[in-house]
Amino acid sequence: MKSIPGPRGLEVLKTIFRFQRDPLTTLSDLTNRYGDIVRYRYGPFSVVLLNHPEAVQRMLQDNHPNYGKKNSPFYKMMRHFLGDGLVTSDGDFWRRQRRLAQPAFGRKRLEGLAPLMVQCTQDMLDQWRRLPPGHVLDAAQEMMKLTLRIVGLALFSLDVSAETRAVAHCLEVLQGQMTRRFQSLMPLPPVLPTPRDRLFRESRRKLEEIAMRIVRERRAQSNRPDDLLTALLEARDPETGEGMSDHQLCDELITFLLAGHETTANALAWTFYLLSLNPDQRRRLEAEVGLNQTPRAEDLSRLPLSERVVLESMRLYPPVWVYGRMSYAADEFMGYPIQKNQIVTVAPYVLHRNPTIWPNPEGFDPDRFLLDRPKGSYVPFAHGPRQCIGNHFAMMEARLLLVTVASQVRLNLQAGTRVGTEALVTLRPRGGLPMTLEWLLN
Ligand code: HEM
Repeated sequence: MKSIPGPRGLEVLKTIFRFQRDPLTTLSDLTNRYGDIVRYRYGPFSVVLLNHPEAVQRMLQDNHPNYGKKNSPFYKMMRHFLGDGLVTSDGDFWRRQRRLAQPAFGRKRLEGLAPLMVQCTQDMLDQWRRLPPGHVLDAAQEMMKLTLRIVGLALFSLDVSAETRAVAHCLEVLQGQMTRRFQSLMPLPPVLPTPRDRLFRESRRKLEEIAMRIVRERRAQSNRPDDLLTALLEARDPETGEGMSDHQLCDELITFLLAGHETTANALAWTFYLLSLNPDQRRRLEAEVGLNQTPRAEDLSRLPLSERVVLESMRLYPPVWVYGRMSYAADEFMGYPIQKNQIVTVAPYVLHRNPTIWPNPEGFDPDRFLLDRPKGSYVPFAHGPRQCIGNHFAMMEARLLLVTVASQVRLNLQAGTRVGTEALVTLRPRGGLPMTLEWLLN
């Protein structure tokens, strides 16, 4: 059988250093040079990157039992950050947690959250109205605040606005350090008595404190709201009758706060950025949306362009730009062998720009989503049993926010700004997104 192509000799080292500086370009260059399956080194690890829809489909769906997160050094590292929540766990424990959380993401329940999402957006717009003309705001940061507030209220009936700063700061420290650790040649867990490791542990402890307080307050409440936290808290193992410990609940809470706000915030930030660069597409969207809308969930079916705009934005800037699995047994992709215990990854940022699937890959063209595409070619939420549990929540939220904002105000990128990418755990605009406001009605 053929062996998987990839850098050799000195190129191996060069790739490692290039990856540390600019992972997105490095991965794109690797696929341009070696093809749709590449083996490269990532610090001490050998990693296979899949950039072909058939292979991606096989890993995430068709042969998914062979690919998991157990023993993956990346998810092991992430556990220092997120604990043992739904994103990082695996096996029977993951299956149980997923079963418990799933009902909170049912269609009817999601639709019931629409008014809350729109109201939070309107609150943000009311604050923007009070800004002086010409004020430059950081749209990326605004979206972070908004989606954090929404996910807190929607999943835990909790307005974290008052604590947004503390929570956001802790998440920022953890996320920044996690990325640096991932990128280092010898990723070490944050256990040393160095100032950096101490800051990491302190941030995680502060988050735990906030989460623990929320869990204890909820336990003590007799009249509990009907939300995700109550569902997790009241769930019992059918065999043992045991519930989740406070510690487990904390891990899930932190996981949902992080996974549920930063991703959607980045999707929206990139969407406003792309619309600002593509005024024709923005005008089409505004024509579909109309003025001063407070959309309901059922309105979204008559606003199809809003969906295509969000999909196209996540094609170009997928918030989760890379993810991976570990192979549990030998397998094969496109005639290439995969050994047992091999790290296999998908980088939606690269796959979504594969020119054999996406003509004019760099262009912003929402209408490309009117056409069929091969399975495994568009995976911003992953796919298969471990696909994002919040995908419908996120799509509904992103579209409702987009429609509400686009019906009232244009966000224009500050003149002369060049926006780069920052590939942390999620993909952000580097240094934020400075934008000015142009109100459609005074
Ligand atoms: C545009 C927004 C979002 C994107 C692009 C996104 C993307 C993803 C991706 C790619 C994964 C798989 C990660 C992996 O395999 O390691 C994932 C998993 C997950 N996401 Fe999202 N996500 C988004 C929004 C949300 C929201 C709103 C929530 C919760 C309210 C959420 C909660 C989760 C959870 C809990 C998992 C782990 C699921 C499991 O393994 O069972 N995500 N997400």
